[in-house]
Amino acid sequence: MDEKLKQIEQTLEKYGQEQLLDEYNRLTDEKQKQDFLDSILTIDFNQVKTLYEKSKEEPAFANSKIEPIDYVDKSKLSNEEYEELKEIGTKEIKEGKLAVVTMAGGQGTRLGHSGPKGTFDLGLDTHKSIFEILTDILIKAREDYGVDIPWYIMTSEENNQQTEQFFKKHNYFGYPKGCITFFKQGKLPMISTDGKVLVDENHKIKEAADGHGGIFHSMLKDGVVYDMKARGIEWVFIGGVDNVLVKPVDPILLGMAVKKQVVAAGKSIVKANPQERVGVFCKRNGRPSVIEYTEITPEMAEETDENGELKYGESHILCNLFSLKAIEKVSQMELPYHIAFKKAKYIDQDGNLVVPEKPNAYKFEAFLFDAFESLENFAVLRVKREEEFAPVKNAEGVDSPETARKLYQDFHKQK
Ligand code: UD1
Repeated sequence: MDEKLKQIEQTLEKYGQEQLLDEYNRLTDEKQKQDFLDSILTIDFNQVKTLYEKSKEEPAFANSKIEPIDYVDKSKLSNEEYEELKEIGTKEIKEGKLAVVTMAGGQGTRLGHSGPKGTFDLGLDTHKSIFEILTDILIKAREDYGVDIPWYIMTSEENNQQTEQFFKKHNYFGYPKGCITFFKQGKLPMISTDGKVLVDENHKIKEAADGHGGIFHSMLKDGVVYDMKARGIEWVFIGGVDNVLVKPVDPILLGMAVKKQVVAAGKSIVKANPQERVGVFCKRNGRPSVIEYTEITPEMAEETDENGELKYGESHILCNLFSLKAIEKVSQMELPYHIAFKKAKYIDQDGNLVVPEKPNAYKFEAFLFDAFESLENFAVLRVKREEEFAPVKNAEGVDSPETARKLYQDFHKQK
């Protein structure tokens, strides 16, 4: 025990994180003390140091050459082209080569719902939760194609237990249990503006989900890649949890990827206005990429082309398809971390709980789409907003349950 403490003291001193020892010394319960030391041992302080140093840098794209990206407009395909892609994609799906991953590790803070976002009742007459709506989509696809479609749900430390219990309680909404696998994304410490690792109100290291860019690594580490291989999967659709019109089993997207011989593809919709809070597809130094809405400059967001359309107007809707080979490749890589400045409750040096009114801490998140740049090729399929994008993000206003519900009802009425 003394050895462990000594080793930790040395590490903390080396990285200027001795404030964690103050917390250790304040703890009285022996188990809590041990748990605290063990959690310190899981932290890569060198990584924390590098991340903190990065918080001072300009966004990476500031020095990159950004250009618009080519795309295929689904609504402009000729009948023959459409049917050809459909046939190719359908064959792949029927042969059981497609799996679906739903990223449900986020906190849903903006929605103001206390549980995992997928457990949110959309307010339909049926009172279906988002998870049930997503399950309906997969049940329908399973019937249409006559094949089991393995579904992997990525959760985080914060919401894994609640998510799994929710599915269990509802008997997996009628989807075969053996086709659903849960796996957890990683986490990283949150740090103060002076680079100190924070302690949370439960006297634990303050950690937060490390963004969905960690998904590839988690898929490898948790055996998801292995499981997919064993099931003969070759293509993986990865989407967010919050779009109730998501079309994860799409023969056109899959057919396009196969026909164009690309290793990955993403769906876009036309950006509604320069301020819409969506990332946009682009080419960065000649490679496929997405510029996030938090990072694009107002000038770039408003730039128009010769037809008066937004130059960067292909919105990324977090509906992307990867070959399993591409996933294996990027799972070995380290994606860059983006920095968010957030409000984080913490225990200060004197042992008092601080509840900040303004952002006070850095949170580090890797973004899945940063993997695009390292892929050999990539294709974008422009689809229709009213058919494929009804996000539930905010409690009220744009992208709220009210707007998503309306889009969902209109779409299902028209079908
Ligand atoms: C996201 C996209 C944005 C896109 C928009 C479309 C990111 C970073 N940006 O923005 O380019 O235009 O959706 O709706 O994704 N998630 C995790 N783990 C995490 C963080 C998020 O699983 O650590 C999941 C969430 O549960 C959610 C999805 O990723 O399903 C999107 O996350 P969110 O933070 O809400 O992204 P947006 O800001 O809406």
